[in-house]
Amino acid sequence: MRNSILSLSLYDDPMSDRTLPTEALMVATTSSKTAFYPTRIDLPLDTRQSVVDMLNGTLAATTDLRTQTKQAHWNVKGKDFYQLHLLFDEMAGELEEFADMLAERVTALAGTAMGTVRMAASNSILPEYDFDAVGGMEHVAALADRYAAYAKHLREGIAKADDLGDMDTSDLYTEVSRTIDKRLWFLEAHLVG
Ligand SMILES: [Fe+2]
Repeated sequence: MRNSILSLSLYDDPMSDRTLPTEALMVATTSSKTAFYPTRIDLPLDTRQSVVDMLNGTLAATTDLRTQTKQAHWNVKGKDFYQLHLLFDEMAGELEEFADMLAERVTALAGTAMGTVRMAASNSILPEYDFDAVGGMEHVAALADRYAAYAKHLREGIAKADDLGDMDTSDLYTEVSRTIDKRLWFLEAHLVG
């Protein structure tokens, strides 16, 4: 069914990159190959390839950070246990929403979201969690280090998406970045004094 739709509505346009057969739209990324599908969106294929590659890297980091934040949620000990247990769960929930937003921007660009936990583990820019962390402030410091690295990655994404000509993706990075900066403040506020 999909093939017939493609041949009728998209492959007939000789000026479009969408005239390429699906196999020719397989492009190499840093870690895998992802398929692009025919689309009516007005952003060029090369722009979408670069943006999707970046988004999939951010998706991996987001899922990695979400699971690390859950690790802290489950294992934190000490007198601040309950408030940190709740805070970390709220932060993990935000990251789950961000992963969904990033993945669906990939598919809106007619790309393929690379969102399994195995993909996250192999593609994330973040270091593995600090398994020596036990007390509240040890978990807060471990998460602050990782939130800071993630925040830097997001800010780079704002500028890179802008440079690539995809203002919508730049806006998505800005939205995520603003919340992550706020969460970094929440974490660092615990470490003062
Ligand atoms: Fe829980």
